[in-house]
Amino acid sequence: MPKVKKAIIPAAGLGTRFLPATKTVPKEMLTIVDAPIILYVVEEAVQAGIEDIVLIAGRYKYAIEDFFDTSYELEDKLQKDGKEKLLERVVKIRDKANIISIRQKHALGLGHAVHCGLPIIGKEPFAVLLGDEITMGFHGQPNVTSQLVQSFEETGTSTISVMKVSDKDVSKYGVAEVEDTQKGYFRVTSLTEKPKPTETTSRWALPGRYVFDNHIMDILQNAKPSLNGEIQLTDSMKVLCKEKGLNAMTFTAERYDAGDKLGYLQANIELALQNPELGPELKSYIQQLARKLN
Ligand code: UTP
Repeated sequence: MPKVKKAIIPAAGLGTRFLPATKTVPKEMLTIVDAPIILYVVEEAVQAGIEDIVLIAGRYKYAIEDFFDTSYELEDKLQKDGKEKLLERVVKIRDKANIISIRQKHALGLGHAVHCGLPIIGKEPFAVLLGDEITMGFHGQPNVTSQLVQSFEETGTSTISVMKVSDKDVSKYGVAEVEDTQKGYFRVTSLTEKPKPTETTSRWALPGRYVFDNHIMDILQNAKPSLNGEIQLTDSMKVLCKEKGLNAMTFTAERYDAGDKLGYLQANIELALQNPELGPELKSYIQQLARKLN
């Protein structure tokens, strides 16, 4: 079975849910506790055994590309600012993986962003990790991409992660209709992008982690714009599930939508609670605060 050694991280969207579109601060560079969001995402890919990571960056996103570059000036500055720990994390990533940046010239949609990775992906299977979602396996749990890679390498079938959402949240996500199987994962029968709660009975939403058989690139090649005039990845996944099959898996890791204001706050609080330097003090602060709120 082919190994999954490549990944695409689409990060070219404008991020209007969070900030007004800005030329200087891409949302992926906002800090969660002590590192930018994009570093957590790249670390997840590396922990899953990915060796070549394609960052899909857009206009105004040069700060993301620069962050992973070898730069004497940046390294000197991080050292002077006492941020050696962050520097160590970046150097570790650079030792273990190749970070390649491809520009998506126009934000034509997530499907288009993924297809922009083709020159590096070639004919191989690959993972996709959305650049503004963080997943974290605490206490030795595997991260979501590791679980998907393992499933793909065992079954040879593209596998996506799914999570249960409430009725009111269905319209924020791509949603998968699934059938039960006996083997610890679901078989996807159809997908809809951001449906109204009445348009699907399924509540299995896609949180932004996927491992694909290379056939999705052939499908994306001919994909047409749909919802919001964008080339939607969901449409091509719908074709993939008919032509080659698509599995879905739930996961045990925590997941934060760091591209959303509430998700960003939750990620900061929960990751800081796990941080040995900040955790104990933050915990007693939250306990005091909770008493005040009651
Ligand atoms: P979203 O549409 O959810 O996020 O794209 P967004 O475009 O950043 O904007 P807001 O926050 O909803 O306003 C999901 C992921 O796909 C990437 C985005 O960067 C995000 O990580 N994407 C989307 C691209 O890389 N290119 C696109 O053309 C569209």
